[in-house]
Amino acid sequence: MTTDELDVFFPRSSAPATRKMGLVVGGSLSKGLTVKLNAGAPVEEMAVGRYVVIEGTEMRFFGMITDVALGNTNPMVESAPPDVSDPFLRQIHQGTTVFGTLHVSPMLVLDTAASEPRPVKTIPGHFAQVRAAAEEDVNLVFGPEDDTHFYIGQPLDMENIQVNVNLQRMAERSVGVFGKSGTGKSFLTRILLSGMIRKNAAVSLIFDMHNDYGWQIQTESRQAVKGLKQLFPTQVAIFTLDEESSRRRQVQPDFVVTMRWEDISPEDLEMLKSTLDLSDQMIGAAYTLRKLWGKNWIKRLLDAGKDELEDLTAETNVIRASVDALSRRLTKLARFNFIRDSWRGDSAEAILRYIDKGISVVLEFGRYGNALEAYILVANYLTRRIHRLYVERMEESLGSAADEPRPLMIVIEEAHKFLDPQIARQTIFGIIARELRKYNVTLLVVDQRPSGIDEEVMSQIGTRITALLDNERDISAVLTGVSGAGSLREVLARLDTK
Ligand SMILES: Nc1ncnc2c1ncn2[C@@H]1O[C@H](COP(=O)(O)OP(=O)(O)O)[C@@H](O)[C@H]1O
Ligand SMILES: [Mg+2]
Repeated sequence: MTTDELDVFFPRSSAPATRKMGLVVGGSLSKGLTVKLNAGAPVEEMAVGRYVVIEGTEMRFFGMITDVALGNTNPMVESAPPDVSDPFLRQIHQGTTVFGTLHVSPMLVLDTAASEPRPVKTIPGHFAQVRAAAEEDVNLVFGPEDDTHFYIGQPLDMENIQVNVNLQRMAERSVGVFGKSGTGKSFLTRILLSGMIRKNAAVSLIFDMHNDYGWQIQTESRQAVKGLKQLFPTQVAIFTLDEESSRRRQVQPDFVVTMRWEDISPEDLEMLKSTLDLSDQMIGAAYTLRKLWGKNWIKRLLDAGKDELEDLTAETNVIRASVDALSRRLTKLARFNFIRDSWRGDSAEAILRYIDKGISVVLEFGRYGNALEAYILVANYLTRRIHRLYVERMEESLGSAADEPRPLMIVIEEAHKFLDPQIARQTIFGIIARELRKYNVTLLVVDQRPSGIDEEVMSQIGTRITALLDNERDISAVLTGVSGAGSLREVLARLDTK
């Protein structure tokens, strides 16, 4: 007789996912609950991160397993374990003198009568039943898959259950995707963006540092994965800074982004301070030069001969050494072919023309993605201009929703470079994060070092999605302001590497 045939005669107990796990035997709201496992629920089948439901007398609680432990009724078993060579004896001990326990963090109260789950303010009493969460329970928390809810994946260790996220709500505030390098941030971000486009939740402007989003990419196992433009040809446009690289990858860009030297202001250099290793004196010199020479100051500095520089230092109070050092640093920018002496287009307006039509824009950096200074410079310049235009248009709309520009979500990678506490006050990305959605612009930040992000900005990130982080400071940063953070830490540090 085969195993399948046996199943017909002796049906197995229900799937482990819905099986009863055990009873609440202790705990507190602040520290979480202790659950004694039933004899029929093997310790080894439990896993941190899994969702559970606790049936209280009046309420149903939704929680997460945050620790698994071994308990006993008689501490003697630790120093003098019984003889368990006989499987029968072993079975008798298990579930009586020795048993497994779970630590469960209660998170929400599920009340079928109320429209939404509520935060927990109390805990279930002794001996409340604990079972694995089923599809209906998870759907009460996130929602069923429908016009607004997008299927983004499964809960930890729970196959066959979907997490469907309301992307419209998610896009109303800034979002963060965190995790150490190679844990799948770009993959997940692409899934989120596909959902936003499909469900019309928001229009995005994606600063695509590593050419991950627009067109086909290959996974580490050499499988091809489609990019956003291939999935939604009419709802996505590809802009590029590096036309050659885009064409090599068979991408037909909709627009080639170009900048002029005169577009770069001393304020932009402040953002590049650490990347280009600029001192305060050099930035001071930059401000003086712009005042003297006007908009085209960088070009003039790069082309200046010895005599001109000597005159300059004779006539003003700038120090020759600072000017020379500044000039040397700025030559790094001269190797970027996308910066030209003159150009008649306007890349920010071109982007807005697409955004206004509801078309998301992926800006590919091509080979310039390897140069952090190019990424920071371009993302800053374009975002500053687009934000200014959004502010003007929001103010002109005088609160009439029909005239407001479309909600825009700006996606940046390496976010800590834009949002570090030293600069987050002045930079455009810090401003956008802090003004919430006042001007209809929000951020989606992707980062592997969240501890480098300004705390105030972090507190404005409404939804945080995180993959494995192994640095204590990064874990704390992601969990700032989250209740029950202590036990979630355990779960976070044990996520898969992919
Ligand atoms: N959901 C997924 N499905 C298949 N492969 C994935 C998935 N997420 C990540 N990967 C694999 O992991 C690799 C790294 O993912 P990626 O998103 O580039 O990481 P990160 O942006 O965090 O550095 C990808 O090249 C791919 O091979
Ligand atoms: Mg990535």
